[in-house]
Amino acid sequence: MAGATGLIGSQVVRFAAAAGHQVVGLSRSGGVDLTDPAALGDHLRDVDAVVDVTRPPTMDQQAATRLFTEVARNLGTAARAAGVRRTVVLSIVGIEESQDFGWYVATLAHERATREHAPGPRVLRSTQFHEFPGQVLARSRRGDRAEIMDLPTQPVASAEVARLLVELATQDLDPDRGGDVEVAGPRRESLVDLVRRLVALRGEHVEVVPAPAAASMAGGSVLPGPHALIRGEDWETWARAAVAAGRA
Ligand SMILES: NC(=O)c1ccc[n+]([C@@H]2O[C@H](COP(=O)([O-])OP(=O)(O)OC[C@H]3O[C@@H](n4cnc5c(N)ncnc54)[C@H](OP(=O)(O)O)[C@@H]3O)[C@@H](O)[C@H]2O)c1
Repeated sequence: MAGATGLIGSQVVRFAAAAGHQVVGLSRSGGVDLTDPAALGDHLRDVDAVVDVTRPPTMDQQAATRLFTEVARNLGTAARAAGVRRTVVLSIVGIEESQDFGWYVATLAHERATREHAPGPRVLRSTQFHEFPGQVLARSRRGDRAEIMDLPTQPVASAEVARLLVELATQDLDPDRGGDVEVAGPRRESLVDLVRRLVALRGEHVEVVPAPAAASMAGGSVLPGPHALIRGEDWETWARAAVAAGRA
């Protein structure tokens, strides 16, 4: 489990362990920096499947592309050598159509390096997580004002993404679907509107101002395609519970 301590990875570890699987957690804070080709040692001995949900600690396109590529190459090379049969990497819906957005250039490099180096690659492309409006607000807030990219999104509960990653790592897929899967939540929303609703649910006072998004994304490139799996609760249901519990 690469990225075991993150938002998604920590849930994957929990669900996989609850389903009776033995999990090896990999992260820098756990002592394994996957950008170092020697770091894996024998961590992958007797491992059947690798799940990669790492995320570089920078949004800079060039730096993130380099780090994503190094991690995927090192993990894939070590996994092949250890006889791992399957690798599942988490990616984002619509990134091929959104190459005018630097972070998605880096994310596509992650996918491609995984397909090139890893044994039995499968790609799960998710829409934005329900936590995304809160993450964007935290990054964009300047005092009582926040400029938010104006784009449509169909967010999904991160817990559903984590459950699906466990399924993809441990179960055979319908051969008609191939190795790649898209997942989204049930409702199409506007990101600006979600941030405003989150601010209101929290009882905060922040002026949320729409800002131009990359042209592809403003045009709907990150919305799910017709074959996407639709999973989990809608954003409003999730947000009300999460804010009440102090988790959003
Ligand atoms: N946010 C969204 O709405 C969204 C939607 C779809 C897909 N995604 C994708 O989902 C993935 C996971 O997102 P997340 O929110 O769970 O990320 P996150 O919370 O930032 O977690 C990232 C994980 O990667 C680990 N990591 C980073 N660099 C590493 C390295 N060099 N070696 C080993 N471990 C490393 C981190 O642990 P350490 O820091 O301890 O190393 C952490 O466990 C990302 O690729 C993201 O692009 C996100």
